[in-house]
Amino acid sequence: MRHAESDARGLRHAELIGWWQAERRDLPWRRTRDPWLVLVSEVMLQQTQVDRVLPYFEEFSARWPTAQRCAAAELADVLAAWQGLGYPRRARNLWRTATIITEHHDSQVPADLDDLLELPGVGPYTARAVQAFAFGIDTGVVDTNVGRILARWMGRRLSPREAQHIADELVPAGESWAWNQAMMDLGVQVCTKRDPSCGRCPVQPWCTWGSVVLGSEPSGLPDPADRSAGVSTRQAPFEGSDRQARGRLLAALSDGPLPTDRAAAEMRLEGDAVRAQRLVAELIAEGLVSPAGSQLRLG
Ligand code: ADE
Repeated sequence: MRHAESDARGLRHAELIGWWQAERRDLPWRRTRDPWLVLVSEVMLQQTQVDRVLPYFEEFSARWPTAQRCAAAELADVLAAWQGLGYPRRARNLWRTATIITEHHDSQVPADLDDLLELPGVGPYTARAVQAFAFGIDTGVVDTNVGRILARWMGRRLSPREAQHIADELVPAGESWAWNQAMMDLGVQVCTKRDPSCGRCPVQPWCTWGSVVLGSEPSGLPDPADRSAGVSTRQAPFEGSDRQARGRLLAALSDGPLPTDRAAAEMRLEGDAVRAQRLVAELIAEGLVSPAGSQLRLG
């Protein structure tokens, strides 16, 4: 890279990190570099908003502060602690991951990307988040928010490979932790999906789309983040969904085993025995529920 270019890039890095240092959110998983706790937080944050994660993270990290302690727990207890956070497969995967770490990695969360990707429930996003936030490895962490920022910066849709490549290139050497946290906060606080605040964006001159939005003809210009890499589509409605019914049964089982023939009522599916049976069978197949005689229990 030419000198002038790399100087300019350094300045912009300083602008983003400087903005972030003034605006940063104080979050418990930012007060630790412990790889297990970083992993737990990132799994919880995969599909759940920060505010909802906070109490669950506090409880989980107090009860199971190491992978070894989590591996020694009953799956039912981990699932019960997850109750209300949603997507309980994450809890089962985390518990299995704890066992793998304990048995195959000397009880230490691995730093290697391929080792991380082999852990259940750890995909490209979570693996790189652990690399950056626990180990300070220079890698780009691309979640929904960061994917949106990158597409807008570039002014076009990006494939997952492109987004990852650009994100990796942008990380200032040795500053992966702060840089990636800053990108996440920029996405949450400024470069939001629906109503981006380009006027107070610290890196607006970097942004192809933002320049147009702030320019004279914002209307009609499609947002390049739409359907771009890592940018989620709207979630299906929860009301009346399988997720809701499954959640009801898991909530009931968190208080203890139940007769199997209560399952449909707990799911409020008394009128649809076929659907109730299917959902119970799926929960069993996924390892979230097990039959015990004429009863069902968690885990
Ligand atoms: N979402 C996912 N990871 C996060 C982090 N480290 N800080 C804030 N929000 C996040």
